[in-house]
Formats: sequence, C-alpha cells, structure tokens
Amino acid sequence: MDDVLTGLLRPKSIAVVGASATPGKIGHTVVKNLIESGYEGGIYPINPSVDEILGLKVYKSILDVPGQVEAATITVPAKFVLDIVKECGEKGVKGIIVITSGFSEVGEKELEEEIVRVANSYGMRVLGPNVVGTLSNSDKLNASFAPFLPLNGSASLVSQSGALLIAIDAITYTRRIGFDKLVSIGNMSDVNFADMIAWLNEDKNTNCISLYIEGLKNGRRFIDESAKVSKPIVVLKAGVSEHGAAAAASHTGSLAGAQKIYGAAFQQAGTIQATDLSDLFDCTLALSLEPPMTGENLLVITNGGGVGVLATDAAEKEGVPLKFAPEAVQEELKKHMPSFGSAKNPVDMTGMAGNEWYHDTTKFAFAHDWVDGLVVLYCETAITNPMEIAQSIHKAISETGITDKPVTVSFVGGERSDEAMQWLVENGIPAYNAPDLAVRAMGVLREYARLQALKKEPITNDHIVDQKTAREIISKARKDNRTGMTEVESKMIFKAYGLPTVDTRLATSEDEAVKFAEEMGYPVVLKIVSPDILHKSDAGGVKVNIKDVASVRETYNTILKNARNYKADADVHGIVVQEMAPWGTETIIGSVNDPTFGATVMFGLGGIFVEVLKDVTFRVAPISEKEASIMLDEIRGAPILEGVRGEEPRDKKALAEVLTKYAFMITDLADEIAESDANPVLVYEEGRGVKVVDARIILKKK
Ligand code: ACO
Repeated sequence: MDDVLTGLLRPKSIAVVGASATPGKIGHTVVKNLIESGYEGGIYPINPSVDEILGLKVYKSILDVPGQVEAATITVPAKFVLDIVKECGEKGVKGIIVITSGFSEVGEKELEEEIVRVANSYGMRVLGPNVVGTLSNSDKLNASFAPFLPLNGSASLVSQSGALLIAIDAITYTRRIGFDKLVSIGNMSDVNFADMIAWLNEDKNTNCISLYIEGLKNGRRFIDESAKVSKPIVVLKAGVSEHGAAAAASHTGSLAGAQKIYGAAFQQAGTIQATDLSDLFDCTLALSLEPPMTGENLLVITNGGGVGVLATDAAEKEGVPLKFAPEAVQEELKKHMPSFGSAKNPVDMTGMAGNEWYHDTTKFAFAHDWVDGLVVLYCETAITNPMEIAQSIHKAISETGITDKPVTVSFVGGERSDEAMQWLVENGIPAYNAPDLAVRAMGVLREYARLQALKKEPITNDHIVDQKTAREIISKARKDNRTGMTEVESKMIFKAYGLPTVDTRLATSEDEAVKFAEEMGYPVVLKIVSPDILHKSDAGGVKVNIKDVASVRETYNTILKNARNYKADADVHGIVVQEMAPWGTETIIGSVNDPTFGATVMFGLGGIFVEVLKDVTFRVAPISEKEASIMLDEIRGAPILEGVRGEEPRDKKALAEVLTKYAFMITDLADEIAESDANPVLVYEEGRGVKVVDARIILKKK
C-alpha cells in the first residue's frame, strides 16, 4: 500500500493551515469537523495571529508543531499556498489537502504545477487543489468542510466535484446507503483517479469503489489501474456531449465522441457505468453487498403479477432475460403456492403468499444449482407484515449458507415496506423500492461478472509484423511534408501489419498499368492517386470492372484527363491498378487518436448503416480477439453478419482477427497515426475471409 497516500488519507496527525477562530469560515469548519467526527489523532490548527481555536492550541507555523505531522489541510488564499507547501515539506508532512480554489480551474495552471513540483520534491502528494477535503468513517476523520461523516458503509467514493460530494454525503442518510470514505479530488493536479483506485483496492475498509468523473487526465493509466483491481468499480461520468466530432478529418473521427469513447474505455477497464446519481447509489449498494452473478439463470419470486411483469421487462433490458426453470424446480416450487399460482419464471406465489411461503420458496430457489441469481419481489398486502416478510427472506438466505450467489429484493408499498427494506440493507441484502431497480441491480452484478471474465482475455499479437517497412513509408510522407497518406501507401502499411488488402499497385505509365492488370487478372479497377484529390469519384478518378488490355489503356488516359480537368495543378502520383474484389458484406473499420485514451478502434457495418444510422462501436486499442468478437455482436446490425434472407453466415472469425490486427497496428503506430479508415472492408461467407478494399491513413501534425 502506498505509504504516502495512506499518510494523506488516513493520517495519524493533521494540521489545519489557515485555521480560523471565526465560525462560518472554511478554516474554522475544518477544525470543528475534525473535533466533531471524533478524530483520535493529533489536530494542529495553524494561524500566526490566533492562540486558541475550539479549545485547541494554535501554532504560528507548522514548523512549530512538536513531533510528526502526517497531513495538512490548507485553507489560506491561493497566493499564500506555495509558501505553506514549502513549510509542510520542511516539516516532513506526507500529504497536503489543498482546499483553496483559484488555480487551474481559473487559468492559474502554472501556480498549480509549481505547487505539485515543490510538494513532490519533498516526497509529498497533493490532493486538489479546489477540494472539499477527505472523510473516513473507519478513521473517524472529517478533514473537510462537508457537514458530517457519511452514513457508515463499505463502499468508498471519489468525486471530482466538491459540491456533489457534499450532496452525496447528505444523501447517504436519506437513501440509507453507506460509505466508508468520501474523497474530493478536485483539480487532480497530482493525486488522480488511477492513484485512488490503486490505493482503495488495498484499503481494508473499502469493498466497492464509486467514482464521479467529469474528465480523466491520463485515460490509459485509468484503464490499466482499474483492470488490475479486485474490487468492483462504479463510475458516473458527467459531460458526455459529442464534443470535437465535427472537427474530425476522417469518417471515423466524425463518428467518435466523448460518450462513445469514455463508454468503451470504462467497459474495457472492467467498470460498471451508472446512468445517473440515483443509479450510482443503486449500483454501489448492489456491488458493495453482493457477489457477482456468474451464470445466466435469473429467477424472480413475487406475490404479484404486475411487479413480476415489470421485472420481466427489466430483465430483458438489463441483459439477464428470464428463462423457465427446469420441470423439477417448478414441481418443488408449486408446493408453496395455491393451484392458481405460477411456478414458471417469475414464480408467482400470488397475493396469498405469507412469511412461510416466502421463506420456503426463497430458500429452495436460492440453494438450487440452476439459479445463478435471485430477485425477490413483494407488494405490500393487508394480510402480511413487510418486516416479517423481510425477516423471512433474510432467514432463508442465511440458512442456505451460500455467499457466492447474489440476491436482490424489491418491496413495493408504503412506509412499512420502506422500513423493512432499510432493515434488509442493514442486514446485508440490497433492497430497492421498484422491481425494475432490483432487476437492474442484478443486471449490474451479471455485467460485473462478464467484465471480470473479459479482463482475463489476453491481448496478443503473435503474427509477423513488418514494422520497419511501415515506418519507412511514413518517413517518406514526412519528408514530403504530408500528413495524408495515399491509398497505396496506406495499404502497404496495412499489409505490413498482416491485414488482407486487395492487390493494389501504383502505375506511373499506361504500359505499367497494363502489366499490372495482366498479372492480377481481370476485371480490375483503376483509380487516380493524388494527395490533392481526396474525393476521387467526384473527380471522375475511379473506373471499375475493366475487363481487357484495350480498356485499361483507354481508361488510364481518361482518368488522367478527368483529374486535370478537376484540378489542373494536382500533384498526380499515378494511377492504381487494383484487383476487383468480389462483393461481400460491407463493413467499416477505423480509428481516431483520442486526447484522453490514445488510439481507439471503431467497427460498424458500411454503406447506409454507417452513413445514416451511425451504427458503430468503439474500443480503446489494443483489443483481445474476444473483445473484437463482442464488438461485432454489439452493433444493431449484428444479425446481418449472421446471414439474413437465406444468406450464408459471414466470416466473423476472420473479421475479428482483422479488427485485432488493425487495433495492434494503430497502437504500434500511435505516435504517427492521427486517424485512419478501412472502408469498405468486405466480409465473405464463413471460411472465405475478409478483404480491405480501401484504406486511408492520416498522420499526426508534427
Ligand atoms: N498561515 C496560516 N494561516 C494564515 C496564513 C498563513 N500563512 N495566512 C493567512 N492565514 C489565516 C488568515 O488570517 C485567516 O484566519 P483569520 O480568520 O484568523 O483571519 C485564515 O488563514 C483564512 O484566510 P482568509 O484570508 O480569511 O481567507 P478565507 O477564509 O476568506 O478564504 C479560502 C480562504 C477558503 C481557502 C478561499 O481562498 C477559497 O479558496 N475558497 C473556496 C474553497 C472551495 O470552495 N474549495 C472547494 C471547491 S469544491 C466546491 O465548490 C464545494
């Protein structure tokens, strides 16, 4: 465990630099909070002109404090912070919590960087600036100006927004969902989300990590650290507008956006994405109390048909669709319901269900091997007592002794149901006030299990790659001061990374075009190659289905003439002669270099699917072959690859392999490639492979 971060977040002693005797001031509130939270370490208020605050001796400087000080909160105006940081360094403080605002968030980036540089030079870490502080129930530590410690629980939350952290602090009591630690991370000048994830993974009082993120500074490190942790992570990402998409140069660039790329990255990091603040609490509750759902079989038990139907709909939406339980299971379940009940799934015990039926059905179902996850629903009836039903469910679960299978509960009713659910939560069973929320929680536990399994998939690239050739082609373009690579150059690079491009050769004379066409065999395609003509078809620069020598000669000259008419001074490299690939299912593969995550890979169906429906999916590169297969399955048009209207299924295995190799290529050349497209990539019947018909690479501006 990082000893310095432990000193910052679980200090044995703490100074409050800028402590004030004036109630209402932040420097006063922090001292008051430290005392009121019951903190047992040394509290050292620092203020040159005050002797005592709330009964504590005040020191003129941190250097006057006798003995060690592990952490210091800073609540003096921004212009004084740097001097204080130096004093903290001299004192041997491990970490500083800079509550003060007025740094990079208002353009004062240099001052902020200087603070971090000085702090790090003393071996100190900086939380903030622009933070509320840090709170820990297990340390009885409220080193913040948030009003009180949160309701005690086993999750910990890190928030980029201070105001939201304060709000969450209060909500923990109204939602009755507890946290051990709340950490405000502010401007993240030094300590960032990746640091916090790594540290909380080692923290014995945290079993679920919840994050409120507005933006990441180093996306790749976030993915790497998240992928390493053994605890569940829930993320609420704010600010998901499609920024930057319009300015992109390539097709892929125009389809990318913060939401898609962040979404992909969170998935690859193995984190659960909350949809809103309320969902952040719901997911945290499930993941902090329950194990992942490792199989597909979800059983729902209910006393009401309506809530059962709502749960059924939610199960479909959450990716855990209900299946009928096997006959033997149904036979046993029928013993605990009237003849007009249903033992299918949902198991409807009817409104007659009382404590005993709830107990027996829950116990049998939870213990049965077929059941991978259980949702128990209850509608408050006049013949039952919600608290007794809750206790029956809890007793049944405990009696099975099973701890590696999840259960969630929903009671729909009034105050008595709320009280019963609160009792369930306090006794370790997540309970929600709507059936779809209990099912959503189970869907999240299933998703967590899937993501965990995916993390274990190796990302390998064992095929032969000719990096030298690829780099030489790029150097040549760089020498010509070009960022746009020609089709032939792009394809040569693709080929160097083992991608199946159609045979494409650059002819600089009519005779050479004929020679290439004869070698390839007819029909062929002829296309103009000029960095000045990007839209080749518009310029009359593309002719397909050329079937003999005479047509090659004639077309060669026609294309040159068209190009000159289109742009008289165009720099024409020649004309490509290209093998005419048989038509297959059109797909598109592409990449953009994201400022936060680096190289990303996109997949979608081509033609109208990409143009109109924007039916594409992204990942941060590189990816495993398993991840590539998931990408093929998650687009809306996925069934087309399975073969529709009597067509044979497409070669998805070859397509996944191409996607993996392509992702490796853009990762390997991430220092050079800004954007790239392979469009179309034609996919043939199973066993017949894939062909990259057109390829485009745009280099980074240097
Ligand atoms: N060493 C010790 N104490 C000092 C020093 C020093 N070198 N210099 C000044 N002080 C004392 C001051 O004398 C004062 O004490 P006093 O009340 O006895 O006079 C105390 O430190 C505070 O200084 P002030 O000048 O009174 O500053 P004030 O309290 O008005 O503001 C603050 C300081 C709170 C840090 C302010 O600059 C600030 O940044 N506020 C925003 C903080 C914030 O919101 N952060 C979280 C963002 S997230 C969210 O929005 C919830």
